[in-house]
Amino acid sequence: MKKHNFNAGPCILPKSAIESALAAINDFDGTGIGILEISHRTPGWERVMAETEQLWKELLHIPEGYKVLFLGGGASTQFCYVPFNLLGKKAAYLQTGVWAKKAIKEAKLFGEVEVVASSEDLNYTYIPKEYTIPTDADYFHITTNNTIYGTEIHTDINSPVNLIADMSSDILSRPVDVSKYAMIYGGAQKNVGPAGVTFVIIREDILGKVDRQIPTIIDYRTHIKDSSMFNTPPVFSIYVMYETLKWVKELGGLEAMYKINKEKAALLYDEIDRNAMFVGTAKTEDRSLMNICFVMADAYKDKEADFMAFAKERGMVGIKGHRSVGGFRASTYNACPIESVKALVACMQEFEKMNK
Ligand SMILES: Cc1ncc(COP(=O)(O)O)c(C=O)c1O
Repeated sequence: MKKHNFNAGPCILPKSAIESALAAINDFDGTGIGILEISHRTPGWERVMAETEQLWKELLHIPEGYKVLFLGGGASTQFCYVPFNLLGKKAAYLQTGVWAKKAIKEAKLFGEVEVVASSEDLNYTYIPKEYTIPTDADYFHITTNNTIYGTEIHTDINSPVNLIADMSSDILSRPVDVSKYAMIYGGAQKNVGPAGVTFVIIREDILGKVDRQIPTIIDYRTHIKDSSMFNTPPVFSIYVMYETLKWVKELGGLEAMYKINKEKAALLYDEIDRNAMFVGTAKTEDRSLMNICFVMADAYKDKEADFMAFAKERGMVGIKGHRSVGGFRASTYNACPIESVKALVACMQEFEKMNK
């Protein structure tokens, strides 16, 4: 039976990226040696690193003055790298979910943290809009897409201080005005590749402003200087990222990707709003294009396990909501085909008919 992969991350990747990765496992770049077995000092590999950075620059129209880094440790490690490198006295954070909260916890180890607003009062089902960004902060940190709750900041906000964004779960889903951000980072394992590599897009002029000593491996300048090869990079994960970026480019880049993502999300949200058995959990204007969260309507609460089993029988994978929210979450990342979204919608309609 065909499986429809709605996992929240790691998640579905483009077929072409998987096929290229499979071929490269046997033979990387005509070397007769597999990608898992080559040295990262192989000339062919240095070319892949350079082209991967170039693809990022092209797809996101990254202006001069920024570097793209490929590091280990996941987005969670960046929660500590960011304040270590950038927090002098004070930083401002927007608390839109537990990932933001974890970033705040780390920042507090390095200086004063002002949480400008939080949506914890309603279990992070909305994005706070009324807040003031303190102009004496070294930076303002946001999480653009809240993977667990299905909320998203849909525009590139204006910040009077350096804007830093965790874009783990919506990077490359829409065009972004990179010039509005001092730094963008995230784990690759949603829209850009498998787990194991973390992307960091950073404006170089924000570095070197804090007084504290920074361990070499944690200092962004180390990785800039050595083009992400200070230590062994996660070779295979970067290779799959490279192939994924090529796929996005072939599809037509971020404008094209955004159009498809809006179409997919509209299909599913329309069904959630139409079908009396289901209710969306995120505030309508803040609904994510990537993680679509919904629960059974009150009158059908006892049907949750039945729907889960029904959907599973029809090939739906990974639609269980995060344990802190419950219900269902369909992650419709870039590589999730519209056919899978249609299959889930059909499944919800069939379930509705059976229960009438
Ligand atoms: C928005 C967001 N930030 C951070 C993380 C943590 O990423 P990692 O597991 O790469 O540390 C996640 C993981 O799902 C996430 O969704």
